[in-house]
Amino acid sequence: MTNTPPSAASTTSPLPHSPGGDVVKVGVVGLGYLGAVHAACMAELGHEVVGFDIDERKLAALQQGRAPFFEPGLPELLARVTGGEADGSITFTTDVADLKSCEVVFVCVGTPQRKGELAADTTYVQAAFESLADVMAGPALLVGKSTVPVGTAARLADVLADRAPDLELAWNPEFLREGHAVTDTLTPDRFVLGVLSERAESQLRRVYARPIAAGTPVLVADYATAELVKTAANAFLATKISFINAMAEVCEAAGGDVKVLADAIGHDDRIGRKFLNAGVGFGGGCLPKDIRAFMARAGELGADQALTFLREVDSINMRRRAKVVDLAREACGGSFIGRKIAVLGAAFKPHSDDVRDSPAISIAAQARLQGADVVVTDPEAVANAQRLWGDLTYTEDTDEALRGADVVLLLTEWPQYVGLDPTHVASLTRGRQVIDGRNVLDAAPWRAAGFTYRALGRPNA
Ligand code: UGA
Repeated sequence: MTNTPPSAASTTSPLPHSPGGDVVKVGVVGLGYLGAVHAACMAELGHEVVGFDIDERKLAALQQGRAPFFEPGLPELLARVTGGEADGSITFTTDVADLKSCEVVFVCVGTPQRKGELAADTTYVQAAFESLADVMAGPALLVGKSTVPVGTAARLADVLADRAPDLELAWNPEFLREGHAVTDTLTPDRFVLGVLSERAESQLRRVYARPIAAGTPVLVADYATAELVKTAANAFLATKISFINAMAEVCEAAGGDVKVLADAIGHDDRIGRKFLNAGVGFGGGCLPKDIRAFMARAGELGADQALTFLREVDSINMRRRAKVVDLAREACGGSFIGRKIAVLGAAFKPHSDDVRDSPAISIAAQARLQGADVVVTDPEAVANAQRLWGDLTYTEDTDEALRGADVVLLLTEWPQYVGLDPTHVASLTRGRQVIDGRNVLDAAPWRAAGFTYRALGRPNA
C-alpha cells in the first residue's frame, strides 16, 4: 500500500472551488443512506451526476430536492444541487440504461446480513455490476463502495472481464457515519483506492480532486486490502465499544465508575477518548452485521481463529441490552406486569432515523414481551420503528411518553432528552426511577427531583 501524505491544507477547510475544472460524468447505483449522500456530494464537487434506484418513492423525493430519510445537512445540499446552485448537476432515474455514458459509476447498494447466517448477502452488489455490464456503452470505471466480504471485488472483476472487457473495476470503501454523512463524504479522513491500474487511480483522483487538493490523504491498495480496510475499521470500532462495556461489567462487580475510567484511559493518546462511551452498546446497519460477516468470511478463508474475539465483542454488546432490561425490571419492583415504561429514543444513535438493530428497540421489545406497557418516543425515528415493530406504542411527544410512567429509560442520547428538566419529568411520571442507558445524564438534579438514578457501569453514580 502506498501512502501519499496529506498536504498542509486542512481537511476541514472549505473545499477549493474550481469552476470549469475537470467535470466527470458520474453514475451512482443505489440511493440509500450511502448512495443518496454520495450522489449529492459528487454534484457538489462539480460533477455531472446520474443517480439510479428502483424505488420510485425515493426517486420522487430526491427529484424534488427532498431527502428520503433524516440526515443533517442533506436537505440543504439537495436543494443546492437540484436547484442549480452547485457547480455540478444531478438527475435521477429508475432506468439503469441512463447510466450508459457515465465515465465512473459508483455502486452503493446494501449488503445486509443473510437470514439465519452470519455472512453478508452480496446479491444486490452482484446484480448491480451485472446490469451495468449489460448497459454500459463504452469504456468506464465501475467502483464498488458497499461493504463486502474480502474477495468479492476479484470475483466481480472476473465477471466484468468475461462480459464487458471495456469496463474496469475499482474498490473504494466508504467510511461515512450516519448523522455526519455529508461532511464525512465531502471531507473524509482518507480515501482508500483499491485499483489494479494507474488509469483507474487517476480517474478516481479526478473525481475526488477537490478534497484531495484540500489535503485528504489517499491510500492506494489492491482489491483485497481495500475491502479489508473497511471491515477492519468497523471491527476495531466495535471492539473499542465492547472493551469499554466489558469494563462497565467489571465496574458493576467491583464498585467502580466506568465513565471516570474511560476519561482517565482516554487521556493516553495511544488509547484516545473517542468511542469509549459505555452504555447499551452499538447497533445500526453496519457495525453488528459487519463484524458477523467478517467472522464468517475469515472462517471461509481458514482464518477463523484470527477473529474469534469478535464473537466476544458481539456477546458483550448483546449482554448490555439484557442488563438494561434487568435494571428496568428491578426498578419496577421485580416484575414488568402492570408497569409503564417510557423509552426515550428509538434510533440506533442520535441525529439519525435509522432503527436497524437499534439497542433501544431491542430493549423496548424485551420489556414489552415480559409484560410491560412500553411507550417509545423519538424525534425522527418513530415512523421507521413503527413500520418494523408495530406492536410497541409510539409517540413523537416526549411528555405523552413520560405521562404516568413508572420507569424512564434513556436509550438514545438525543440532545432534547439529555437536556430534559427532571422536575418537569417528575410532574408527569408516576414513579421516580430513571435508567441512563448512555451515561449522559447529570445524576444530581435527577436525584434532587426525587428520582432513583441508575447508569451502566457506575453502580455508585
Ligand atoms: C459506522 C462507522 O462509524 C463508519 O465509519 C462506517 O462508515 C459506517 O459504520 C458504515 O459501515 O457504513 P454508523 O453505523 O453510522 O457508522 O455509526 P457509529 O457512529 O459508528 O455508531 C455505531 C453505534 O455505536 C451506535 O449505536 C452508537 O450509539 C454506538 N456507540 C458509539 C457507542 O455505544 N459508544 C461509543 O462510544 C460510540
